[in-house]
Amino acid sequence: MKNIGHLLMLLCMIVCIGCSKSDNSEGTPMDDPDGGDPNPTALSYQNNIRPIIQSNCIACHGNPPTNNAPMSLTTLSQVQSAVETRGLLSRINSTTNPMPPDGLMPMSARQLIADWVDQGFPE
Ligand code: HEC
Repeated sequence: MKNIGHLLMLLCMIVCIGCSKSDNSEGTPMDDPDGGDPNPTALSYQNNIRPIIQSNCIACHGNPPTNNAPMSLTTLSQVQSAVETRGLLSRINSTTNPMPPDGLMPMSARQLIADWVDQGFPE
């Protein structure tokens, strides 16, 4: 009887350790289907997205594009089509093939773009 009590306690401890190990609090914005922010504020291209693109992408993706960039990103519809057909979201989160090419933007900027896409490209 005493032995069974010990066994049960041991089992309990093992289960507890297993639980804490599987707790994964880290993650990239792309891992979360909701875009990471449980309650995102309403975003707009004009206020939130255009300034990010202006300071990080237009050096090459201007109109006309320069430095061998294949397209411009100066209007909402150009940005939307790059998300839909050119993998913009995966490129700005890529460590092997990043955009901008010299290093990823801060997580907060990448999250804003992902949330804006989730919200349906509001103007
Ligand atoms: C220093 C110049 C430069 C900057 C800055 C830059 N890009 Fe690019 N981008 C390129 C070049 C050159 C290519 C084509 C080669 C390649 O795909 O890597 C490209 C390709 C891309 C593509 C893939 C296009 C396709 O059809 O495959 C996307 C999407 C993209 N860029 C998005 C962005 C975004 C968004 C930013 C800003 C956050 C950005 N880029 C900043 C030069 C740049």
